Amino acid sequence: MLGTLVLLWLGIFLFLLFITMRRPKNFPPGPTPLPLFGNLLQFNPNAPLKELDKLSQRYGSVFSIFVGGRPWVILSGQEVIREALVTRAAEFTGRPDQLMVSHILDNNGVIMSAGSKWREHRRFALTTLRNFGLGKHSMEERILEEVKHICEHLERHAGMSMDPQNLFHNAASNIICSIIFGSRFNYEDDYFQTLIDRMQEFNKIVISPWAMIYDIIPPVRCLPLPFRKAFEHYEKLRAHILKVVAEHKNSWVVGKPRDMIDYYLDEMLKVTDQKKLFVHSKMVALLFDLFLAGTDTTSNTLRTLSLYLMTHEQIQERCQQEIDMVLGSREHVSYEDRHAMPYVQAVIHEAQRVSDVVPLSVFHTTTANTQIRGYSIPKGTLIVPYLSSALREKGQWKFPDEFNPQNFLNDKGEFVKPDAFMPFSAGPRVCLGEGLARMELFLILVTILRRFRLVWPEDGGVPDHSLIFGGTQSVKPYCLGVQLRL
Ligand code: HEM
Repeated sequence: MLGTLVLLWLGIFLFLLFITMRRPKNFPPGPTPLPLFGNLLQFNPNAPLKELDKLSQRYGSVFSIFVGGRPWVILSGQEVIREALVTRAAEFTGRPDQLMVSHILDNNGVIMSAGSKWREHRRFALTTLRNFGLGKHSMEERILEEVKHICEHLERHAGMSMDPQNLFHNAASNIICSIIFGSRFNYEDDYFQTLIDRMQEFNKIVISPWAMIYDIIPPVRCLPLPFRKAFEHYEKLRAHILKVVAEHKNSWVVGKPRDMIDYYLDEMLKVTDQKKLFVHSKMVALLFDLFLAGTDTTSNTLRTLSLYLMTHEQIQERCQQEIDMVLGSREHVSYEDRHAMPYVQAVIHEAQRVSDVVPLSVFHTTTANTQIRGYSIPKGTLIVPYLSSALREKGQWKFPDEFNPQNFLNDKGEFVKPDAFMPFSAGPRVCLGEGLARMELFLILVTILRRFRLVWPEDGGVPDHSLIFGGTQSVKPYCLGVQLRL
């Protein structure tokens, strides 16, 4: 009797769930969801993009899936992504509320939030990055300073091979540290390594299924499950930021900013309507956001780029010829040199295309009831710009399925950027660090290739270019063979 009752209640519960998981009228189509899981079970967690490609072939460039009880609208292909994020930007620039992140980061931090808090901080951060301008403390100088340390590290490994993962990660972190905190760390510094490890762990947890469990099942929030670690890591990272900010306050000279903290302290003094938006707690949140967003993305791209250069020797040599010709006996490369190096530019962009570092972008939400391609999308719907689909889209690229710099060169050998190139996304939410990342990739690659030859180690086995799926994707760990060029 009890068994029958339990079964009956379970049946009613599942039926109710099923009813709530039906698509609203004229909503983008998609596969039928299962109660509780939605469409999750049909995705291979290690290769979910293949399934998205199949669904896109079946349902078109706008379709929907259910993750748990929530519908996600997937935008596939460059045209529809641009239509939503650029042409209809006003309705597509929201960010979803992720409860766990919101609880950790005091209401979603600043950059990942929405409204005037996001807009003003985005404006401030972009202006500040531009204001670094030229001269001794310019962004370019800071990157070149870091490149010096990368080269010293590689020189110590000349004639040998090494896993470049930590090197590129440390370098990308240091460039961000230099811009926001005004100083860098030695690669061997234990304190620095702990900070980086914490940041990576934090990143992993907030995009793991644990974050979803935290959001969906309130009673588990106080249990000692892995998501508690994210709170702990954040507290330690925040303590570091607070310490650096306190040190800055003692040495800061108004109107003479040395780094982003000083710029922010100056901004806090300005009497405007926006003044209340620029307060101490938001500065900490902004610094955290930038530190978080600017490391994995750049270092994963550098790792994939180096792998392709090792396994495509002719492409590497052609880059070196162009670099030698343009730089001659000049000591340093400058970012301006990119205009004279179309082939190197094409190789960097092609590496970004195949690196496909942020395949599903950062999720958006709709800020109003809207329409796309004739489908109705209610306010608050989660939107996934499937950037990966554009980067591999048939008909948009000369060679969509291979690593080939010709994808970015015209018949005259000039560098051209097709519209489907959108690893930084598009529209008002486009990656805030795009300019910085581009400069980093160019200056680092040119300096390394000028001094070293990258070779696939004899004992390296068969090179594997496949990507490990994640919020930020990367190739599998590998060893980089380093030889000094004469
Ligand atoms: C956002 C990619 C480097 C800071 C994003 C987004 C993508 C992306 C796809 C989501 C945009 C959207 O929501 O539509 C990349 C790639 C990078 C890179 C591929 C390197 C190769 C950086 C760096 C920084 C940074 C170096 C540090 C300054 C940010 C921030 C956002 C963002 C703050 C959020 C922007 C907003 O919501 O307004 N990035 N990024 N990124 N990125 Fe990057």
